[in-house]
Order: sequence, then structure tokens, then C-alpha cells
Amino acid sequence: MVKTVEWLSDQPGRFFPGRLKLIDQTRLPTEVLFLELRTVESVWHAIKILQVRGAPAIGVAAAMGVIVGIQESRARTPDAIRTAVRAAADRLATSRPTAVNLFWALDRMKQAARADLPATDLAEHLAAEAVRIGMEDTAMCRAIGEHGATLLAGVHSVLTHCNAGSLATSWYGTALAPLYVALEKGQVIQVYADETRPLLQGARLTAWELSQAGIPVTVICDNMAAVVMRQKKIGAVLVGADRIAANGDTANKIGTYGVALLAAAHRIPFYVLAPSSTFDFTLASGDSIPIEERDPREVTHGLGKQTVPEGVKVFNPAFDVTPAALITAIVCEKGIARPDYRTSLKTLLSPR
Ligand code: MRU
Repeated sequence: MVKTVEWLSDQPGRFFPGRLKLIDQTRLPTEVLFLELRTVESVWHAIKILQVRGAPAIGVAAAMGVIVGIQESRARTPDAIRTAVRAAADRLATSRPTAVNLFWALDRMKQAARADLPATDLAEHLAAEAVRIGMEDTAMCRAIGEHGATLLAGVHSVLTHCNAGSLATSWYGTALAPLYVALEKGQVIQVYADETRPLLQGARLTAWELSQAGIPVTVICDNMAAVVMRQKKIGAVLVGADRIAANGDTANKIGTYGVALLAAAHRIPFYVLAPSSTFDFTLASGDSIPIEERDPREVTHGLGKQTVPEGVKVFNPAFDVTPAALITAIVCEKGIARPDYRTSLKTLLSPR
């Protein structure tokens, strides 16, 4: 697996200053190209156009983008550093609206900026916090993999939608993490990956990273999921999440809701896997999750040529909300929650 998001320090023994290194996911699967970013605008753009994408990876990249902002501002006093943190966070918060991990990570950086430290120490403290957010994400994903793998005993094939793998996090992924853990234990699970129109994260990214890891993967067009569920002995559907409301309603890549309905119709367990940074208990239900709408050209010109007549209207929501009633279990780093999610999620996620 390649590193999706990484902080590279310019000085040995220190985190600050440095630069944000990303694998450019718009170039996969045909080119493996890395970017090194040193401006807030370039980080904003990378998130906006999905050079870095996937809820946890967006959060980690944004936290590191704040450090880039401090460097760019050339702030020399604690107050000037705090102003730079606020400015970078405010800008990065406008990049994409649905994944709550973005806002969660930016809030953490703003909290860390309150530390009463001299300028050099404050900058170093903030850079360390951004790196820590990435390391914690890796640990959470690993734990999700361990918990998730317990749901896959005796399962030979699963279906997934979009990419909720290592490329969407700092390591391991969420929905794909149990497959990596199972592989380490000698259990090879066949994956059916929905292509995931319009931006093909399943075909381009999930298929790429699973092949790299030696996990057998078969790409299907989104409209083939029903037949695959009927014919291919799918033992579970595994998906990630961009935001989970207090009642368990889950926003994830557009098409997830349809997959959940199909899984229910075929009596296949439908599992959502996400770190605690993806939960938004300020929202009672999925009705208030903001859903990003993207450029119609992703639909009309997505496959390298125009596929829709000129002037025809397009609806292009990037996410949908799967009602909690269709979700068999929600897996996070702390364990596995089952319905009723209003109580089980609160119990699982409350500090012990
Ligand atoms: O638009 P994207 O590619 O950022 O959408 C990503 C997804 O919907 C993922 O399933 C989700 O962020 C979970 S990633 C662990």
C-alpha cells in the first residue's frame, strides 16, 4: 500500500516547517503520481477536485493544510499564528460539505492553537497535532479492521461501493480494513467492487488498491449489483461513511442507498464501517446532513467524451443517505453497534 497522505518535514527532528505529500488520486489507476503542497490554495484545490478524497483522508489533509497555512503566512507571533490557523481553517472548510471529518479535524487544529506557547513552540505543537491526527486515523482504521473481520467468518465474497480503503484514509481504510486483516490471517475474500459512477472510485481506486494487496477483485457496473447479489453468494456488503447522524442514518457515496435496499431485498448483511471522527451527534437524523452537488460535467463528460446531449439538465449529488433501518451494524474503532443506534452508538462512543 502507498501512503495516501503524509507530512514531510523540512528539518530533521522537527515537524515544522514541512509540506503535505499526497498521492494524486485523479491519476489512478494508470499513473502513480505524488504531489507536494505548500499553499493552502493548493490543498483546497486538491480536496475540491478529489486528488485527495475519502472522509478520513480529507480530514488528515486539511489538518496538514492548516500547517501549510501557518508557514505561508510567515507568522512570527502566537497571535499571528492563531490568525493564520483560523484563516486556513475557514478556507479549507469551504472545500467539500458532506464529510464531517473535515470539520472535525479543523476544529481540532483550532483547539490546539489555543495552547499558551511561544511562537516557535506553538507552530511545532500544531504540526505535531496534525501528524497525530493522521496517526490516530491509522490506529482507528486498524481497530475497525479487527472488529470488522469478526463479522466475516465463513464469508467468501463481499460487495463494496466507492472506495473506503487505504486511499480514503491514512492507512488500511474502513470498509476494506477487515479484508486486509482477514488476509493477514490467511482468509482470502473475493471483492465485487461497484464501479461507482460518475467518478469511478470503485473501478479506479478500490480495484487498484485491492489488486496491489493481492486481494481478488471484480469490478461491476453499478447496475449489476442486484444480479451479483443473487448469483454470487455475497456474504456481506461493506461500505464506508462520510457522516453518521445520532440515529445511525449514514451519508456515503451516491448509490450506497440503492445498494442497501438491494442488500435488504436479498437478506445480505449491510455493514457501515467508520472511525469516530465520522459521527455527527449534533444531527438527530440524516435529513440534515448537507449533500454536496458537483459539476454536471462529471456526468456529461465523465468518460473522456460527451455522453449527454448539449443543454440537457443533470442532477449530480455526490452522496446519499442510507436510513438506519437498512444498516445491519455500524463498526467503529471502539466496537460494533447494532440497532437501535440512538442508544447503541451513544453507549459505544461515549468516553469511558
Ligand atoms: O467523493 P469521495 O470519493 O470523497 O467519496 C468517498 C466516500 O463516499 C467514501 O465511501 C467515504 O468517504 C468513506 S472513506 C473511508
